[in-house]
Amino acid sequence: KPAARLVVVSNRVPTTGSPNAGGLAVALEEALQTRGGLWFGWSGKISQDIEAPPHPRVSGSITYAVCDLSRRDMEEYYHGFANRVLWPICHYRTDLAEISTRDATGYFRVNEYFARGLVDLLQPNDIVWVHDYHFLPLASFLRQLGAGNRIGFFHHIPWPAIDIAMTMPSYERLLRAMTAYDLLGFQTPYDAANFRHGLDQTGIGQILDKHRCKANGRIFKIGAFPISIDTQAFAEEARNAEKNPVVRRARAAYDGRPLAIGVDRLDYTKGLPQRIEAFGTFLERSPQAAKARTTLLQVTPKSRSEVPEYAQLQCAVAEQVGRVNGKLGEVDWSPVAYLNKTMSRPVLAGLYRMARVGLVTPLRDGMNLVAKEYVAAQSPDDPGVLVLSQFAGAAVEMDGALLVNPHDTDGMAATIARAFSMPIAERKYRYAAMMERLDAHDVANWSDHFLATLGEPDDMDALGG
Ligand code: UDP
Ligand code: G6P
Repeated sequence: KPAARLVVVSNRVPTTGSPNAGGLAVALEEALQTRGGLWFGWSGKISQDIEAPPHPRVSGSITYAVCDLSRRDMEEYYHGFANRVLWPICHYRTDLAEISTRDATGYFRVNEYFARGLVDLLQPNDIVWVHDYHFLPLASFLRQLGAGNRIGFFHHIPWPAIDIAMTMPSYERLLRAMTAYDLLGFQTPYDAANFRHGLDQTGIGQILDKHRCKANGRIFKIGAFPISIDTQAFAEEARNAEKNPVVRRARAAYDGRPLAIGVDRLDYTKGLPQRIEAFGTFLERSPQAAKARTTLLQVTPKSRSEVPEYAQLQCAVAEQVGRVNGKLGEVDWSPVAYLNKTMSRPVLAGLYRMARVGLVTPLRDGMNLVAKEYVAAQSPDDPGVLVLSQFAGAAVEMDGALLVNPHDTDGMAATIARAFSMPIAERKYRYAAMMERLDAHDVANWSDHFLATLGEPDDMDALGG
């Protein structure tokens, strides 16, 4: 019997072929390329004629079907509820949440709009895999429209502890809608436990065991599925990067200078001001590092610039880079090389490999693929050191990293110093421990595990119906 078709749904769909900064699109592209299937979501465009049905377009093994949004949809659903309510709250920044009834209504309306666009494309045996906080209630609308498919959901960002989660407007409506999925996947066991706790506390779901829950007479599953990268392909990319002209230029520019690298969308969850401050403190306290012209190469493409909190952050980070460079720089050295552009992944692979230290210090992060990419890109003979926030999902798996509290500037500065002076033997065994994990758990393994769990029939008898 032929394998069921996979239908992936995400707001961001990389249809333009341009490089994508953002873990979701990167991971899904890698997961879908081998398996093939339909990728459904937003076109990235705003148009007047939003009722037009999506036109599927085939590219290699993937068929894309995307819908436009109206300007009002964009404001209420994407800029509003998704990125000014769910994003900050899921990242524990309730102080940044801008709650409005208009945006909540728009969010549910746009979810229904996407459900209507998708349902006409669905075949009865399709397996549907919905992604991220833009689409928490999508399955409930698909069910209302008669979809009987198996539908899974993966949440790429943290699911917060219950007191924080309760600050989401329409919290109970969202939870109830999410019980329409057959499987709900989270990045870490902690996120999954927070979600289960919410179902239990509100009485919206009856917890049967650690992985199963019942609501409205249906059983659905909950689990942790830590997302990953295509480890071997990325390592190979890094090995070949020496030939890349941009990487060559960087190598010439930083020849002989110790290098740290940071790669993050310009987002307040990434802890950029804290990182830059800590790097400055490290240089102030390490005259030798300053003398060696140690540099932080910070690659930071702009993101969601129309959301006011992001526009403010752009100014704050630029000012801070200026302060550190102004205070500590020399005629031939700017300590922080700050780039607001998207780099292609082959170039990133080469830059990671050049850098002795990888700084991944978000205040909160669902997983953080950059942490995994940095490790995979290292040379086994002379690997660099990953400095990783304890608040990134990746910290659960990356046990060879030096963990830091990104709020503690002094602590981070001391850890950066330790990373730069770590002996090669210690660097090698830390790298080997992390590579072992990344080889065993790559992105193919992640999608296979999720889809196998989604495809398993629920054992109703064992559960007593
Ligand atoms: N990325 C990229 N070019 C850039 C910056 C980032 O291709 O200039 C990619 C990066 O390689 C990684 C992803 O964007 O695969 C970022 O994912 P991560 O999970 O670290 O963070 P997110 O952006 O999803 O919050
Ligand atoms: C994170 C989110 C994704 C999102 C990406 C880029 O990775 O989990 O859902 O696509 O950031 O953000 P954007 O708003 O540009 O899609």
